[in-house]
Amino acid sequence: MSSSTGRLTGKVALVTGAGSGIGAATAELFAREGARVVAADIDPAGAAGTAERIRDDGGIVEPFAADVAQEAAVAELVEFTVRTFGRLDVLQNYASNRSVVAADVAVADCDPQVWAQQLSVDLMGCVLTAKYAVPHMLRAGGGSITNASSLVGWLSLDARPAYATAKAGVIGLSKAIAVEYGKRGIRCNVVAPGPIVSPGTAGMYTPAQTEVLVDHVAAPRLGRPDDVALAALFLASPEAAFINGHVLVIDGGMSAYAPMVPSFRRLVDAAGGQG
Ligand SMILES: NC(=O)c1ccc[n+]([C@@H]2O[C@H](COP(=O)([O-])OP(=O)(O)OC[C@H]3O[C@@H](n4cnc5c(N)ncnc54)[C@H](O)[C@@H]3O)[C@@H](O)[C@H]2O)c1
Repeated sequence: MSSSTGRLTGKVALVTGAGSGIGAATAELFAREGARVVAADIDPAGAAGTAERIRDDGGIVEPFAADVAQEAAVAELVEFTVRTFGRLDVLQNYASNRSVVAADVAVADCDPQVWAQQLSVDLMGCVLTAKYAVPHMLRAGGGSITNASSLVGWLSLDARPAYATAKAGVIGLSKAIAVEYGKRGIRCNVVAPGPIVSPGTAGMYTPAQTEVLVDHVAAPRLGRPDDVALAALFLASPEAAFINGHVLVIDGGMSAYAPMVPSFRRLVDAAGGQG
């Protein structure tokens, strides 16, 4: 991980999904970069663990247990952030409902309740946090929001349609926020990770499926939570002042492939490198 450049000194950052994976890495990196951080998660132990690591590292943080799908809880979370640290400059949304992964089946067989559960966290969580954070940012003259979409927000992986829909919605929402509030100093961008090894994806893929993922990134390895956190740091930093409504893909080049490339490459190899 990089050494601190103090790029978020003086800022207050609220990170949801901060108890695990990308959210935890982002909370830790932002604290190292000088932000005072509220590490929010539905899992109190996860949030507390992240806060402990940040404090051990000399950072300033408060953990907070909140379900981003519940409006009252989100209102309380934002109120806690402003009451504790006096302001809110940076909102980072990484909360994701992994409990419905197996039930997120093909549309003709779907359970609307599963869709509601997925959308309520992955999409509505971003809506609700923005609803309560934006007024504070407007009062302060600006702020920065980054929402987690996914490569599957616009490229189908032939699986998880509710998740894909939530993540596509995040892109539309983020552009709407960017346009609505951009003139008043609020930027809203999206990180769209490809395959990132995190506690949330552990066990999601068989070894054979993992091998296929590794084969299809144009990089020597799968992604790490820090790969996304570093991109999010850039988007939240003053260097990104003119970047608004942008979708930053962090996928090791996976989406740079035309779909036929792996099959074509196999044929070229079989022909002894001709073609
Ligand atoms: N890991 C990947 O490969 C990948 C790829 C594309 C997009 N993403 C997105 O990046 C974000 C982080 O992914 P990750 O792999 O680090 O996930 P993760 O599962 O490791 O962490 C998600 C966190 O969200 C928390 N959470 C779940 N429901 C919540 C709720 N209702 N309120 C508050 N917190 C809640 C969980 O407790 C967990 O700590 C997610 O939005 C995910 O969809 C991840």
